[in-house]
Amino acid sequence: MSVDDLFKPLTLLHGPPMRNRFMLAPLTNQQSEPDGFASRFDQDWIGQVAEGGYALVTTCATTVEAGGIAFARQLGIHRDEHLEGLGRMASTLRAGGALSAVQLHHAGHRAQPELGGVPSPASSRTLPGVDALSTEEVQRIRDSFITAARRAQAAGFDGVALHGAFGWILSEFMSPLLNDRSDQYGGSLENRARLTLEVMEGVRQACGPDFQIGWRLSVERYGLQLEELREITAHVLDRELIDYLDLALWDSAQVVREGSFKGQSMLSVFTSIPRRGVRVGVAGRIMGAQRCAELLDQGCDFVLIARAGILQRDFPHQVRADPCFDSVRLPVPAQYLRAGGLSERFINHMRGWPSFVVPGSR
Ligand SMILES: Cc1cc2nc3c(=O)[nH]c(=O)nc-3n(C[C@H](O)[C@H](O)[C@H](O)COP(=O)(O)O)c2cc1C
Repeated sequence: MSVDDLFKPLTLLHGPPMRNRFMLAPLTNQQSEPDGFASRFDQDWIGQVAEGGYALVTTCATTVEAGGIAFARQLGIHRDEHLEGLGRMASTLRAGGALSAVQLHHAGHRAQPELGGVPSPASSRTLPGVDALSTEEVQRIRDSFITAARRAQAAGFDGVALHGAFGWILSEFMSPLLNDRSDQYGGSLENRARLTLEVMEGVRQACGPDFQIGWRLSVERYGLQLEELREITAHVLDRELIDYLDLALWDSAQVVREGSFKGQSMLSVFTSIPRRGVRVGVAGRIMGAQRCAELLDQGCDFVLIARAGILQRDFPHQVRADPCFDSVRLPVPAQYLRAGGLSERFINHMRGWPSFVVPGSR
C-alpha cells in the first residue's frame, strides 16, 4: 500500500470512524498537578497534538484509583473533580477533529507508596510482606476502571484505552508468574484473563453502544506467555469486546525468539488472528512515512505514533506533505523540543529516556 492509504478513513465497531490511520500512542509526561489534576501544561500538550492531524489521540496513562499511581505528576481520573480539566482536553481534541481516549491505568504491584500508591499484587509472593489483593479488592479495582470510563464519557471523550501492558495490573493478572491466586481471578488462563474481560464487559455495559474501547497489550517480560496472549486475544476479537487492539511492541519489526512462533514476526502472530470487526494497530519505532505504509501492508489497520509524535507534534500532517518524511535522528538537544513547544516538565521527563535528549543540553 502507499502512503496515501494511510489517509483513508477506518470505521470502528462503535462510535465515529477514524479519519485516517494515525493514532497517538499514550505518552506519560508527568506534568499534572498534585492528585492528578490536569495542568495548563497538559492542556498545552493536548492542544498541540489536537492540531496534529491524528485520527485518535490517547491520553497518558491515567490513574483509575489514587492508590494505583506509578509516576509523579501522573494524570488522574479517580475523582469527579477531575472532570473539568479532562473535559477541556476532550473538547480541545474534538475541536481539532480527532477522536479521543483516556488510557485507564492502575499500577498493581508497581504502585508507588512514596506517591500515595498502594502496592496491590495479584500474588502474596510478588512483594515481600505485602498480601495479595482479596477477591473483593480485585472487584473494587475492576469497578474503579468502569467508573473511570464513565467519567471519561462524561468528560466528552469518545472512549477509553485499557492499559493491559507492561506488567501493570491487567497484564499482571494475566501472568502465570505474577498471579498464583486460587480464586476466580487466578489459575487457568480463563481466570487470569477474567479481570481484563470483566473490565471490558463492564465498560461496555456502563457506557453504551457509542463508546469506544481500546486494549493495549504487551508481550514481553513479567512472565507473560505469547501463546496464551494470542489465545486470549483471539477470544476478545471473536467476541468483539473491543474496538481496537493496540500492540505495544518496542520494535514493530520484532521477531519471536522462542516458543511455537519462533522466527515469525511478532506482529504476524496477532495480525493472523481473525479479527471480525476489531481493528488492530502496532507501536514500536515507527519514525517515518514509509514505515507506516509498510505496516498497513503487514496487516495493520492503523499505526501508533509515540516518540516520533514528541519530536513532531503534527506527524500525520508531515506525512501528508511528504511521503518520504522521516523523524530527525535521536538524540536531539533540549532546545529542539522547546522550540517545538514542549514544556520544561515534559523535556525533563524525556531526559530520563535513553538516547532521546542530548545529555547536558539546554
Ligand atoms: C515518553 C514516553 C511515555 C510513555 N508513556 C506511556 C504511557 O503512559 N502508557 C503506555 O501504555 N505506554 C507509554 N509509552 C510507550 C509508548 O506508547 C510506545 O508504545 C513506545 O514508546 C514504543 O513506540 P515508539 O518506539 O514509537 O516510541 C511511553 C513512551 C514514551 C517514550
